Formats: sequence, C-alpha cells, structure tokens
Amino acid sequence: MKTHKLALIPGDGIGVDVTDAAMQVIRAAARRFGFQLDCRTLPWSCQYYLETGAMMPDDGIETLRDFDAIYLGAVGWPETVPDAVSLHGLLLPIRKAFNQYANIRPHRLLPGIEGPLRSGGFDILCIRENTEGEYSGAGGRVHQGKDDEVAVETSIFTRAGVERILRFGFEQAQARRGHLTSVTKSNAQKYSMVFWDEMTRQLAPEYPDVTVSHMHIDAMAAKMVMAPESLDVVVASNLFGDILTDLGAAIQGGLGYAASANICPDGSGPSMFEPVHGSAPDIARQGIANPVAAIWSGAMMLEHLDEGQAAAAILSAIETTTGRGIGARAGSHSTAEITQAVITALEEQA
Ligand code: IPM
Ligand code: MN
Repeated sequence: MKTHKLALIPGDGIGVDVTDAAMQVIRAAARRFGFQLDCRTLPWSCQYYLETGAMMPDDGIETLRDFDAIYLGAVGWPETVPDAVSLHGLLLPIRKAFNQYANIRPHRLLPGIEGPLRSGGFDILCIRENTEGEYSGAGGRVHQGKDDEVAVETSIFTRAGVERILRFGFEQAQARRGHLTSVTKSNAQKYSMVFWDEMTRQLAPEYPDVTVSHMHIDAMAAKMVMAPESLDVVVASNLFGDILTDLGAAIQGGLGYAASANICPDGSGPSMFEPVHGSAPDIARQGIANPVAAIWSGAMMLEHLDEGQAAAAILSAIETTTGRGIGARAGSHSTAEITQAVITALEEQA
C-alpha cells in the first residue's frame, strides 16, 4: 500500500480547526481508496514563537524537506506577533526554500452557493508567481524614525522566474479551455512589467493551441466582477496574484471557499497546500470556521500525490454537501457539521 508522508502545520487560530477538518476527510478518503498516511504535526505558530523566539526551529526547512507534502492551516496572531514577523518566519520562507513558484487558486461557484454576482458561470484558475516579484524581500530602511527616513522595497523579476511561471500558465491553459490571460501593469511599470509582457509574447508561439490576452491589473479587477465567465487561466506576479485571488474568493462566495496549492513543479522539494484564508482570530476556537476551502486544498494535495481518484471523490463530496445547503451560507453550520457531511457524501459514493 502506498504511504504518503505529510507534514501538518495547523498554525494559528482557525488554521487548527480547518486542518483537523481537512485531515478527517483525507483519512476517510485514504480508507476508501487504499493508501496510507504517515503524518507528523509540527506546532510551528505564533504560540511557538512566543515560547521559543522563532516561528520554526533553525532546521525547520530541513525537517520539512523529507516530506511528500506539507499541509498548512493558517499563520498569524497579530495581537501578540506582528504579521510581518510571523509570515516572514514561516509561510513565506517555505514557499521560497522549496521553489514553490506556482501558487494555484481555483475560483468557481460550488453548487448551492450564491456569490455576490448575478452571473455564476465562471471557472477561473489563477496562477500566481510565488517566490519573487514584489515579495522578493529586497530592500531596507534608513534613518528609521527620523524625519528623513527612507524605505525601499525592490521588486525582482528574473528571466528564469518569469519564464517558468508563464510556461506553467501556458501548460495549465492547454489542459483546460486554451485561454491564458497574463496580467501586468506595463503601462505604468516600464521595466519589470514590460519585461513580463515581452516574455509572454516570446513564449506564445511555442503554445499555438493557447490564445493569449494581456490585461492590466486594474482592468482585470473590473473584468473579474463584470465578466468573470470570459476568463480561463490567469497568470500574474506575486502581489497582483495575491490581490486578484482575494477578489476571486469574493466572487466565489467568500474566503471560506478559496483553496490553494503552492507547487514546486520540478519536484525538488515538497509542495504546500493551504486555504487562502488567514487565521481569523475573531472566530478562532468557536467551531464555526468554514472548512470547505481547507478540504478542497486537501483534495489538491491528493491530486498532487497522484491520488487523482481520491481527489476527485473529495471534490464531488464537497459539491454534494454544498448542494445540500450544508456549508453554503455563512454561519448556517458548524465546522464539525460540514466536515461530517463531506465524509458522509464521500461514503455514499462508494
Ligand atoms: C496569501 C496570504 C499571504 C500572501 C500573506 C499571509 C503573507 O495573503 O497566501 O494570499 O500574501 O501571500
Ligand atoms: Mn492573500
């Protein structure tokens, strides 16, 4: 029997609740589809930071390297640890260390869910560059706190980094409806974004079966609201992709439905799976967090681990569940009720 070695980082707040929910469903799928899980839970979180002075141990990255995949709940507890400290101590270094350069986020309406838009017929796959660009972390501050203080943060776009994410986008478009929208702001940012546009044009002839559109980020934000059904695969830089995928989450009914995968496409390190939402301190420990995004992210993890059948079965069980109105509206059901409904739907399929 195949065994998948998983590192679980529940993290903070509702990250703990939804990781538990996702793992219950994944375990149910493992029983049904005949694979085994070898899970290790790592307590890395803001609480861990308060106890040890770091979000993860010095050898944290080396520890994670041994796993087939990483599942992360959510990170952040701004009341005690500034977000810039907690995120730069855990989530962001993991994305960079394992070359998880492709952040994949699907946006579509699940059955039974009424999004804020009149039109529900959209199915968008956002591909966000995940290791460089505006998140490169190159910069500094001088004369801190003084009148002449300066803060500089430089976006870094490398040929290798841009080429690989664009190729990834083209390949995803080939596997879907054959349309790629590349999002930049090359009318204002004349170095990095013009370079990105040029790279897109250079690569396009290698993918003759893909039609390419170029859009500026501002127009794209409008399009995702006005005509989301016209979009297929969307590829964008790190920050632009971050912003667009919260918009994507909004049109699919909210952050409780937005799943994501941080993929290391060359397999040189583990990939990491996490819901798009954060730790939501205001509803932590109340048992009311929506686990759908987390469970869907778990399905993406199984897909990545070559358990395609189990992944499809979980997605279908999620659809059955929301179609039954369970977890389809904010506050209608508890985390446990939604999780159990997904497991029940999974078992009914068998
Ligand atoms: C996300 C989050 C993170 C990001 C934050 C928490 C650093 O918003 O995964 O979308 O900006 O990448
Ligand atoms: Mn975000």
